[in-house]
Amino acid sequence: MKKSIIQTSSREQTLALAGLFAGILQGGEIVFLRGPIGAGKTVFVKGIAAALHLKSSPTSASFSLMKEYKNKKYRLFHIDLFRLEEGEVFNLGFEEMLEDEQAIILAEWPDPIGRMLPQDRLEIHFKLKQGDEREIELTSHGKISERLLEKLCNLVKKSF
Ligand SMILES: Nc1ncnc2c1ncn2[C@@H]1O[C@H](COP(=O)(O)OP(=O)(O)OP(=O)(O)O)[C@@H](O)[C@H]1O
Ligand SMILES: [Mg+2]
Repeated sequence: MKKSIIQTSSREQTLALAGLFAGILQGGEIVFLRGPIGAGKTVFVKGIAAALHLKSSPTSASFSLMKEYKNKKYRLFHIDLFRLEEGEVFNLGFEEMLEDEQAIILAEWPDPIGRMLPQDRLEIHFKLKQGDEREIELTSHGKISERLLEKLCNLVKKSF
């Protein structure tokens, strides 16, 4: 388990961080996004999708818990389980996602699916500070997410 803290002081800066993060994604990553309402979780996800030039693909209305963004190289699944509980979330299609090397799973309010996914995940906790300041705490759980975090920290040191 590795931990690292990054601060941003505007939405644009969080988008820039998301852009750096997008550049090191290869497919197969799982990211849990935590923190209160309005902390910046969705901004971060949209920043990743924009940086990778992904298009949101139409999902059925009954599947509002999840949005898929994709291009030829990546499939990004943005899941938001606000106010849901474990027993209320069934079959989001994880088996297929986990078999797909292009799939990246980004989940806000992820507790209901915590036990349905592999343990190797990067946890990103957005904390509200003064005004537009955000403290972003990243914690790796496993080898894949540890390498991801190391790469991100190197990029942040160089250019953030
Ligand atoms: N440093 C910052 N980083 C990210 N967003 C910021 C920052 N400063 C201000 N904001 C604003 O905070 C809001 C973050 O909204 P966002 O939808 O990303 O929150 P969220 O964490 O996804 O909340 P929810 O749990 O309701 O989904 C946006 O209105 C954004 O413009
Ligand atoms: Mg959100």
